[in-house]
Amino acid sequence: MNNLDQLVIDAQAAFASANAAAALEQAKARFLGKNGLVTEQLKALGGLAPEQKRERGAEVNRVKAAIETALAERREALREVELAAQLEAEAFDITLPGRGATPGGLHPVSRTLERIERLFQSIGFVSVDGPEIETEWHNFTALNTPENHPARSMHDTFFLEGREDVLLRTHTSPVQIRAMLAHVERTRDCDPMPDLRVIAPGRVYRVDSDATHSPMFHQVEGLWVGERVSFADLKGVVTDFLRKFFETENLQVRFRPSFFPFTEPSAEIDVAFMGGKLKGRWLEVAGCGMVHPNVLRCGGIDPERYTGFAFGFGPDRLTMLRYGVNDLRLFFEGDLRFLSQFR
Ligand code: FA5
Ligand code: MG
Repeated sequence: MNNLDQLVIDAQAAFASANAAAALEQAKARFLGKNGLVTEQLKALGGLAPEQKRERGAEVNRVKAAIETALAERREALREVELAAQLEAEAFDITLPGRGATPGGLHPVSRTLERIERLFQSIGFVSVDGPEIETEWHNFTALNTPENHPARSMHDTFFLEGREDVLLRTHTSPVQIRAMLAHVERTRDCDPMPDLRVIAPGRVYRVDSDATHSPMFHQVEGLWVGERVSFADLKGVVTDFLRKFFETENLQVRFRPSFFPFTEPSAEIDVAFMGGKLKGRWLEVAGCGMVHPNVLRCGGIDPERYTGFAFGFGPDRLTMLRYGVNDLRLFFEGDLRFLSQFR
């Protein structure tokens, strides 16, 4: 065995004993680097006679190629070892049951609100909204509710500390005023004024708490103003809506005379089911009436020429009825055991 063959064996041994990429690169330098053992052999060729040089040169190149092959093989082997180690270190147990992604869902009251909006939009009502922190003027004064009305008392209304002009709105009716003023502004050049047909869903606040009253609850205001809008239209729209909402024709709707300062005449709307668990019991779901002339005036509309009806539904109560829930406050406690039943 000549010294060149020995070189190949030495290189293979050196590569084999390198157990990491860095050590292997050092071993490589020892043989193939600028001052490496193979490079030395190549340099030594310069001192030989032409004939010898060709023969010896071919030999050295063969050795060089063999060492390069050994190096490439060792590199590959080390890469595989590293990969295997990495896979082992980062292994996860695919037989463990997954945590799963439980599907979320809309809150039952949100579902009701969407459903109400969809039904009214289908007959040409547009959704609008107003601020929850409302001025006393929009919430009471413009709605024909006099200074000494009991609804203005601290027992019923959340006022804001240090402010006398604003409060947490007690109903969505102030949106009537905002919608009328905006509509009049928008249709200033039209004669007659096109009908105004809006609904306004949103949160309202009262000092109130029992099984059917919550201090924060929802209302959906409805308003239709035009040249010949009558109580008959109100009855038709509301009755039709309720039958569609509860998906039954077996529903009695009653307009019970009542009083609101902002409507004249006024009524409460009660429903009774003709079958099922709630059969025969009358439940109040809304207040309504023909918009009072003073209110139309505050909205910038001439009450001699236009009439309108308005209603204010309690969608939380509609949700209770639709799903058979007996305590309204459950909706706002955020208990997933309750809420996830509506997914
Ligand atoms: C009003 O708030 C009037 N603004 C409704 C109205 C609008 C009348 C337009 C005429 C024209 P009332 O206080 O009755 O009326 O409330 C309306 C509905 O809201 C009630 O029928 C009930 O369904 C619901 N509601 C009232 N108070 C609460 C409460 N604390 N918690 C849950 N729902 C309530
Ligand atoms: Mg009422």
